Amino acid sequence: MRIDILTLFPQMFDGFLSCSIIGRARERDIVDVRLHDIRAYTHDKHHIVDEYPYGGGAGMVLKPEPIFEAVEAVKEELGLSSVPTVLLSPQGRLLNHEIARQLAHCQHLILICGHYEGIDERVAEHLATDEISIGDYLLSGGEVAAMVVVDCVVRLLPGVLGSETSLVEDSHTYGLLEYPQYTRPAIYRGWSVPSVLLSGNHGEIAQWRRQQSLLRTIKRRPDLIEKAALSDEDKRLLSEAFEIKS
Ligand code: ADE
Repeated sequence: MRIDILTLFPQMFDGFLSCSIIGRARERDIVDVRLHDIRAYTHDKHHIVDEYPYGGGAGMVLKPEPIFEAVEAVKEELGLSSVPTVLLSPQGRLLNHEIARQLAHCQHLILICGHYEGIDERVAEHLATDEISIGDYLLSGGEVAAMVVVDCVVRLLPGVLGSETSLVEDSHTYGLLEYPQYTRPAIYRGWSVPSVLLSGNHGEIAQWRRQQSLLRTIKRRPDLIEKAALSDEDKRLLSEAFEIKS
């Protein structure tokens, strides 16, 4: 997969792209991430990328020309007339696991990071094919949002994670939150690891984990449990948990 990121601050991506899972995926040529400085696509002496908004108001707005030209240059280099082009903005559809899965099927992806008070609407209307938000809060720019998208998409690419099971069992993959995890030592500052995890009984461990996932999701994210397709066994595990508690 190739991801082209258009930004005013390419240096923000340095650490992110060289470490951990993304760093390894790039080393193994599973993903090719290219950064493009939007400012390099200006033609004036001062490399102006923003202007005051028409109609007045606070802050500056990113001009359309350098962004259109940067996207067109990437498409030309790829020899493609259309490439999925995502504008990161708080007005976009909310990112979730399903959207990440769909993006992970793309061979090429262009991400546009806005900055300042906003970006000329013609970018969203006539250049971007998708607009994505990473949450209902304002970031100072789309760079962190682009990193979030790259991270959750790249980890879904075949061969990126060590074992396929870590993907399958991951939080949100099945619409439930993950069960609690523990490692050595078995007792730390007087707090013990749940005894079932030390029992060696894999059937009981799997049941306990599923039950914990269900309970956590009900408590912390009731919106997710409403959408999850619970099996009869899930319902039994839940009623058992509630019986024990009451
Ligand atoms: N840019 C500023 N805030 C954002 C958000 N919440 N998601 C995506 N891009 C943004």
